[in-house]
Amino acid sequence: MAQARKAVAKNGKNQLKIATRPTVKSFYNFIGGKWQPSASGEVFENVNPADTRDVIGRFSLSTSEDVNAAVNAAQQAFDRWRKTPAPKRAELLFRLGEILIRNKSRFSADMTREMGKVLKESGGDVQEAIDCTYYTAGEGRRLHGFTTPAEMPEKFAMCVRQPVGVCGLITPWNFPMAIPSWKLIPALVCGNTVVIKPAEDTPLSTYNLVKACEEAGIPPGVVNLVTGYGETVGGSMTTHPALRLISFTGSTKTGRLVASACAERNAICSLEMGGKNAIIVMDDADIDLAVEGAVWGAFGTSGQRCTASSRLVVHKKVYKQFSRKLVDRAEALRIGNGADPRTEVGPVINADAVDKVMNYIKIGQKEDDATLACGGRRLSRGDYAYGYYIEPTVFTDVLPDMRIAQEEIFGPVTAVIPAGSLEDAIEIVNGVRYGLSAAIYTQDINRAFQAMNEMYTGIFYVNASTIGAEVHLPFGGTKATGNGHREAGTQVLDIFSEWKSVYVDYSGKLQRAQIDEVEI
Ligand code: UN1
Repeated sequence: MAQARKAVAKNGKNQLKIATRPTVKSFYNFIGGKWQPSASGEVFENVNPADTRDVIGRFSLSTSEDVNAAVNAAQQAFDRWRKTPAPKRAELLFRLGEILIRNKSRFSADMTREMGKVLKESGGDVQEAIDCTYYTAGEGRRLHGFTTPAEMPEKFAMCVRQPVGVCGLITPWNFPMAIPSWKLIPALVCGNTVVIKPAEDTPLSTYNLVKACEEAGIPPGVVNLVTGYGETVGGSMTTHPALRLISFTGSTKTGRLVASACAERNAICSLEMGGKNAIIVMDDADIDLAVEGAVWGAFGTSGQRCTASSRLVVHKKVYKQFSRKLVDRAEALRIGNGADPRTEVGPVINADAVDKVMNYIKIGQKEDDATLACGGRRLSRGDYAYGYYIEPTVFTDVLPDMRIAQEEIFGPVTAVIPAGSLEDAIEIVNGVRYGLSAAIYTQDINRAFQAMNEMYTGIFYVNASTIGAEVHLPFGGTKATGNGHREAGTQVLDIFSEWKSVYVDYSGKLQRAQIDEVEI
């Protein structure tokens, strides 16, 4: 069998240790309808971030050779899949939805074990995949184009969608089944075939999704799974000449690399990247409600959402009251293994994440004006000893240009920033490089609409937190968050299909366009 190599993923770089553990299950790539090990013969381990003694499985440490094989398989399957009527493609996707429902509790438990989020949130993640599957499969009987009048008599004009070709999907670890489904399902309903590379920290949830596709009867080669690291597998995908489209969700830094590689070869590229989202709390807000929204938005999923409420911009008149209540709630949160139903905040994903988040906490502490109001420590005693646990952390008195108020931390840390007025708050919220999600708590409808209108973000909430976008509305952001695309909703179809404008001249004579001689 393959020789076990290293587990840099959740063990963190330079903390590698793999003995041969014969009881650990092996998971393979899925290429052309066959489950097969990587051509490299090497594997990496998927470990539980709540308890690193728990090894979930060994996954193929794939190389460009595996990517080539997967792309070939997807190319071969493309023509038949493209020609399968969209309602028939959708039928298989509805079947997939049923399989996901049937396996929801197992998939949720697997997800908590590999990603760390609390069980109820994993259930929500799997449910998001189910919702996306049903909603988007419905497009199999729509995939609307349009007709429009032609300039000339006896001429008909229409516009139809056509698939893009073979698509490369590169997905993150924080929504290990929902985000793969946001890409996979629309790609398939539009008639594309795919190669999917899940994050190395959470390959099992995508494995479960792909296995369910197989069980649903999606033909061999239509969905191919290649596991491994970003630099090798992701890198080979972004430069592969036959991958017509790359859809990527992850950091803004990596997204830029993906975009440049795609630009080199004119590939379509859809990017979903970082966020530095803010909740505005006005002086007329229901403060208890705003505190609940802030706690959920900042510490849900241990703050590891691109939509996380990592800034709380609070009107000076209610600033003290809000901050005190927030700190009380944050200190009372129960931190632990997400598999325990009492847990409210699970671990962060891996050792690198601990380093990154703790480093930002240090940066915040060094700021003279900011106050570490609660949290700030890594937990490593007792039950916490083998996991990546960080206390929910609140900084108050934060100034808008401090690094902790500007940069994406992606952990359980939030910054409370005072503001003098709505205008002031709007300026602060828009004053970052990202533009994913924002929210306002107020009882004043005029202020709510003003804020909605002024916020340069892709998502906006009134009297709700910055997290929790639904699958039938477009998802994505402005500025450094994206490159103009939107996933989910029907807008996602514009990523995974290309328009073909069709003109039918039934006059039986030559009608010349753009020659200025049409008689009216
Ligand atoms: C993400 O964090 O990358 O809106 C996605 C939300 C979820 C999706 C988050 N439905 O918070």
